Amino acid sequence: MKSIASAPGKIILFGEHFIVYGGRAILCSIDRHITVESELTDTGKIEIRSDLGQATILRDDPMDRVDQVLRPIAFVAQRMLREFNSGSGMRVVVTAGFPAGVGLGSSSACCVAAAGSISGLFTQYTKEEILKIAIDAERTIFENTSGADCSVCTFGGIIEYHRHGEINRIDADAMLQFVVANSKMTHSTSEVVSRVRRYKENNPAIFSLLCRQEESLIEDALDAIRQNDLRGVGQKMSQNQKFLEQIGVSNETLDSMVSLASRTAYGSKITGAGDGGCTISLVDEANIGSTVMALGANYECFATKIDTVGLRQKKE
Ligand code: PMV
Repeated sequence: MKSIASAPGKIILFGEHFIVYGGRAILCSIDRHITVESELTDTGKIEIRSDLGQATILRDDPMDRVDQVLRPIAFVAQRMLREFNSGSGMRVVVTAGFPAGVGLGSSSACCVAAAGSISGLFTQYTKEEILKIAIDAERTIFENTSGADCSVCTFGGIIEYHRHGEINRIDADAMLQFVVANSKMTHSTSEVVSRVRRYKENNPAIFSLLCRQEESLIEDALDAIRQNDLRGVGQKMSQNQKFLEQIGVSNETLDSMVSLASRTAYGSKITGAGDGGCTISLVDEANIGSTVMALGANYECFATKIDTVGLRQKKE
């Protein structure tokens, strides 16, 4: 029997960086998935295969023997074998439907899909239970993860995430569509976050004004999302981009991607830490083709909708 689970990636619509100082962020899942297939074997070993690498480990091998990118999967496999007192081996295969390491939540989606697939070999946990395992798995590589990415990958849809950990689902019928474009520039989230901290320390008054403006922008953006007002949401995204430019997390490439997309899309901005990674541009049927064409000439890009389901599980 194979247990198969998939979980969507995510984008940040509003609030990145400012959330570090107590605000909130709006995240949504996208209809690109990471899929994990697992089955029990009689080898007594855990074999992991993914686009990012391979590993063969034993049930009690220490985590630091496992390559970083595969650690969350190894963690879930070991935990489930122990939990269900199984002496079996296991084969786990990961397939990514979107690029890794560019702020689209690939590691969280992988943790959620791995938790869903591997636990499915033994039992049927609720999504809440699977989310807890996924967050523990993500902690093997990001000790201080907020859990926001794993939450949106598990439940799908749009969520509002507060710094102190509260996560609310936003009920909206809005069928938002985006064009995601990949700058292919690598970035380090922690470095960018530190740079923003320095900006805040050197410009306390400006930064505190920006935090207040961001908060009120998010309030208005939520109203626009609930009313399915694409122009309104797009305008707020472009305004959010201005704030991100002001705190220094954009760069020439990202600026030019945003300005290219803004000619046709309702709005465009960086998603996530910045300094590289991806931009998102809000579109609908009327301007999706022209926006993909404009960005696609120079950047890898794809159109996506919100995934409202989140984690999916099946057995074969
Ligand atoms: O680049 P991502 O998707 O991991 O997003 C980082 C979001 C920040 O606000 C910049 C950092 C954080 O911990 O909230």
